[in-house]
Amino acid sequence: MRWRNRAALMAIPIFGSVLFAVAIFNPKIVREVDAQAAPTPTPAATAAFDQAAAIAKLREQIKGRETEPAEKVFKNIQTPMLKGSPAARLLAVMEFGFARSLGVNCTHCHVPDKWEAEDKPQKQTAREMAAMAARINGELLKGIKNLKSATPTINCTTCHRGEVKPALNLSVKNN
Ligand code: HEC
Ligand code: HEC
Repeated sequence: MRWRNRAALMAIPIFGSVLFAVAIFNPKIVREVDAQAAPTPTPAATAAFDQAAAIAKLREQIKGRETEPAEKVFKNIQTPMLKGSPAARLLAVMEFGFARSLGVNCTHCHVPDKWEAEDKPQKQTAREMAAMAARINGELLKGIKNLKSATPTINCTTCHRGEVKPALNLSVKNN
């Protein structure tokens, strides 16, 4: 993503966008998730689906329209915090905010090249997770007094940490 776009994204005033912005723009989180996500795809899955190629193809398809609102460029955008944000940002959210956070690739939620379809239940789950996270950030955390941050924030990575099923235990994986 170009710096010009990054700057534009960071300026988006919608509160909920902080949720994704943190995952995308905090290099520490990206590094940690990288380390966790690295061993996840099996060789068979990697051979069957080339995520880098899929993203490159989508970037090519939206060329010249990167800064237009996601819902104008794509076909089936329902999430409030994605509506009105630039199309290029949606791809970054998919790659870093969603796939890396959960330690999966695009095929966990999509049939490749049918990005607008609702083939997999995980896609709708992700929407509901985004709504949950927005409510935690927008309502619940705001009600807790004496926290260190002015705007205490969680995102997908906070819980998932590179796993589909968030851990309940610090030392033993529960999935
Ligand atoms: C955890 C689930 C999840 C993962 C993983 C995921 N997506 Fe998505 N994707 C979604 C959801 C949910 C939407 C719809 C967002 C909305 O309704 O606002 C979406 C929408 C899209 C769209 C817009 C399609 C349209 O025309 O409406 C594209 C393109 C897309 N994803 C590409 C990708 C790519 C490429 C990857 C892998 C890098 C990926 N996604 C990974 C959940 C996911
Ligand atoms: C507050 C913690 C929390 C946050 C934040 C969170 N999740 Fe989850 N997520 C969970 C839990 C708990 C489950 C259920 C795991 C299980 O099956 O027991 C889950 C399950 C899911 C699943 C279903 C996975 C599967 O295939 O079974 C998806 C998809 C998902 N989350 C996406 C997201 C996305 C995308 C975000 C960020 C917008 C997010 N989650 C943020 C806690 C969280």
